[in-house]
Amino acid sequence: MLSGLRLPENRPIGLLKRAPFVRQNVYCMTSYSPALVAYKNAINAMSAKPATDPTSWLAQANIHGTYSPPAGMITDACQHSNLFFLAWHRMYLYYFERIVRKASGDPTFALPYWGYSPTGTRNLPAPFRLPAAASNPLYVSQRLAAINGGGNLNASAVDAGVALAALAFAGFSGSLEGTPHGAVHGSVGGSTGWMSFFETAAQDPIFWLHHCNIDRLWEVWLASGGGRINPTTNTSWMGQPYPFYDENGAQVNLTVSQILDTATQLNYRYAAPACFRIVATRVDATILSTLTRQPPIDPRILAIADTIQKRPPRPGPILLGQEPSAIQLGGRPSEVRLAVSAEAKQVITALPTDPRSGRQLVAVLEDIRLAGGPMVYYEVYLNLPADTADTVYTSPHYIGNLEFFGPSPEGRHREQAKVRNLDLLPVYLRLRQLKRWNDDTIRFTFVPRAFTEGQSAARLLGSRSQASIGRIVVRIE
Ligand code: C2O
Repeated sequence: MLSGLRLPENRPIGLLKRAPFVRQNVYCMTSYSPALVAYKNAINAMSAKPATDPTSWLAQANIHGTYSPPAGMITDACQHSNLFFLAWHRMYLYYFERIVRKASGDPTFALPYWGYSPTGTRNLPAPFRLPAAASNPLYVSQRLAAINGGGNLNASAVDAGVALAALAFAGFSGSLEGTPHGAVHGSVGGSTGWMSFFETAAQDPIFWLHHCNIDRLWEVWLASGGGRINPTTNTSWMGQPYPFYDENGAQVNLTVSQILDTATQLNYRYAAPACFRIVATRVDATILSTLTRQPPIDPRILAIADTIQKRPPRPGPILLGQEPSAIQLGGRPSEVRLAVSAEAKQVITALPTDPRSGRQLVAVLEDIRLAGGPMVYYEVYLNLPADTADTVYTSPHYIGNLEFFGPSPEGRHREQAKVRNLDLLPVYLRLRQLKRWNDDTIRFTFVPRAFTEGQSAARLLGSRSQASIGRIVVRIE
């Protein structure tokens, strides 16, 4: 069986220098693969230690968030909705992996990643749900039952296409943090499970594999080129330090500048998602392209977006429209319509044809409040036609998702309302290109999706509301 194979890179080479650890796709593994055996051994060993031991399972989870922080420990430190989201979680994974490696007794251990994809496998990997018993350290009952039952996550919840298409780091990071990151959190946790909330997410063993995939997608984004770079000229970003514990329980610090090259600075890299290595000398180009394909982006859109991004931004956002009254989101699609003034219409029309604009077209969803635990997330569409044939995330009208991963309503941060930014520019340019853009309105359609494929959001929620949005503002920045 291929799944248990060790790549040569996983062996120590000599005494002086070893090749980077390789994080592999968990879908290429079984419960008996060395990495999962080692992970299970480590979870057992780490769970036996008290929360006051920095290398214990709970202490590691508490670094992310906790309801009851032990005094003097690093707790509630996770970075979300800011530029440090990717960097902080990379550091967190790095030390956690070292701690697991030591606790497992396997010096070759590397964390697997959860390689879900919209067109491929997207259920919870079998070793994490079977056997569904306390004897299986990868299984926890604090998940959505349908997910532990092997149900598929929805394709739109795991699709990184919108995030990967973003050219600027901030846009990419923010978008990725929503989908697949937050959408997968909510889908696994459901309304009460651990993965849905900051305070409990990292107690679920799948958390770490999910975050490896998010970390991997950062690498995929950089490798896609087209001007996609880290904000390395931002010195406060580069110099920002965060504290963690190493495998000996000692407190250590890393700064962002120390973690940007995984192979040379942190000694790990990612294996490609496919579960086999291509050994043929001549590979059919079409097979290769289906294995490595990213979501297609029209080159004309890229070219336009490129010119826009390279120009210095003009000062001051332009408000194009807003919907100031609260919007209730429930079990059925809801539509929000913003009137566009003649002036705003002009500004929008000028967007793609003015290469000096340097502008972003953004929708800001403000003051988002959850009514109870998350039971659905919402696909968001721009100017969806009246017939709903296009209500699918591959539609040109699809903007992205509204998901609700965050602090628990029961936690100490409960009053925090969420804000989400949605980048409208790629969708707008696409709709213009397809001659489907009507300048007179900006309409958003929120389409509820249950966390597992084929389940009805309407049936789950009934007449209840899932969340409200205080205000939607559309502006050019
Ligand atoms: Cu800090 Cu996926 O969470």
